[in-house]
Amino acid sequence: MSQAPRRTVVVLAAGEGKRMRSATPKVLHSLLGRTLLGHVLAAAAPAAAEQTIVVVGHKADQVREHLAEIAPTAVPVLQAEQNGTGHAMRIALDAAPDAAGTVVVLNGDVPLLRAETVTALIEAHEAGNRAATVLAAAVDDPTGLGRIVRDAGGGLARIVEERDASAEVRAIREINAGIYAFDVAQLRTALGKLSTDNDQGEEYLTDVFGLLAEVGSAVGVHVAADARETLGANDRAQLAGLRAMLRDRINTDLMRSGVSILDPATTWIDVTVTVEPDAVIDQNSQLRGDTRVETGAVIGPDTTLVDTAVGAGATVLRTHSIGAEIGPEATVGPFSYLRPGTRMGRKSKVGGFVETKNAELGDGAKVPHLTYVGDATIGAKANIGAGTIFANYDGVNKHRTTVGEAAFVGSDTVLIAPVEIGPGAYVAAGSAIDKRVPPGNLGVTRAQQRNVEGWTARRRAGTVSAEAAERAADKGKVE
Ligand code: UD1
Ligand code: CA
Repeated sequence: MSQAPRRTVVVLAAGEGKRMRSATPKVLHSLLGRTLLGHVLAAAAPAAAEQTIVVVGHKADQVREHLAEIAPTAVPVLQAEQNGTGHAMRIALDAAPDAAGTVVVLNGDVPLLRAETVTALIEAHEAGNRAATVLAAAVDDPTGLGRIVRDAGGGLARIVEERDASAEVRAIREINAGIYAFDVAQLRTALGKLSTDNDQGEEYLTDVFGLLAEVGSAVGVHVAADARETLGANDRAQLAGLRAMLRDRINTDLMRSGVSILDPATTWIDVTVTVEPDAVIDQNSQLRGDTRVETGAVIGPDTTLVDTAVGAGATVLRTHSIGAEIGPEATVGPFSYLRPGTRMGRKSKVGGFVETKNAELGDGAKVPHLTYVGDATIGAKANIGAGTIFANYDGVNKHRTTVGEAAFVGSDTVLIAPVEIGPGAYVAAGSAIDKRVPPGNLGVTRAQQRNVEGWTARRRAGTVSAEAAERAADKGKVE
């Protein structure tokens, strides 16, 4: 069996990203479920690197903290002063004395890059036994980017930054995407020869290509199949553009896999979300984070699901949900707010203007209208009347309410936790319940009704109410 090729990944992420005008470093801005850095690391994953190094500098602590969350095995290496991409690369390799084989280098700000493209770059590089390979793309507007200068035979001669380029070189529309594969040993040697003799007075990683070509080492270009993958985000307008492109890519992939997306332009689904075939996503909906939607579910319109699991055949209409589990064939909405710890059983219902938190609903349980359910367990087939409040908070602590199987809670009830309603028990509408209602009992806390005869005529004489009452009384006499 041949040994796996030895590889190291380096992500350059020390720059400030001035044009973002942000307190957050550029690589920590996010689009559709991951930061820029997170997307780049995900694209690099198939390289199966022995080690992944991330060069940090600007706001290094924030970047390190994020890295510890999303890629704990990646090693942050500090570049205290940002003296250029070549300088950054030298510091990265100094921190990896044992690296051998191929080093894959990625700019930290190219979130649309696909894993397949990185794999193709590595394969072209390793198959060609080259010292260096650059990912290039043909673009309409190359402004600001390094240009690929080819020799008479069509091979790579060098990479020239725009600010150092002649008019002739500026006219080239083939650009450097900032993604490379190098032979580690040859890269180390070439990095030692970099100068700062350029317009910015920085060490350019791109100069390595010219240096290697001059001494006769094999250098090459791998052209990206889709130039959009190589786009970087320098300001927030560009970031929004990339976000829309990623949205379209995600939606198209999902539709091809059998998901109905009724209005792809207003449907925003994170890369981290899974949606099964034959689910339907209606317009103006966002599915974020660790959200999973099973087959036949109908989501939206106007629904946001964050970290929410939706079972097969469930319906979720005009709802905001965070950290909830919605059971198969359950129905939610319109205008519902599901908060963390909500777990709805099969065919259960949370209706209009209902808020739930830490609430378990058994199979077939119903909370149809205008209700707050906080810290509660509701048994299968129980019915909670309109306007019920689960009063879970005494001003200091939160307490739990239990409603048994097939219990029936009348409208406008307050259940004052901790309290328990037994299986099959009823609670009379308008009650304030703070003691246990045993199974099969009726709990009622209402005062007895009494009618005061002739009150309107005496106390509200001359009002429309008094007139209406008088007419009703006359009519009563005739009959
Ligand atoms: C670089 C390339 C350019 C290419 C472009 C693609 C060089 C000299 N130029 O230009 O040919 O077309 O990317 O986007 O490499 N960084 C560090 N430390 C530094 C400087 C930069 O870590 O000292 C990081 C940045 O955070 C960024 C990446 O390297 O992630 C690229 O840096 P940037 O300043 O954006 O390079 P460009 O001028 O865009
Ligand atoms: Ca850049």
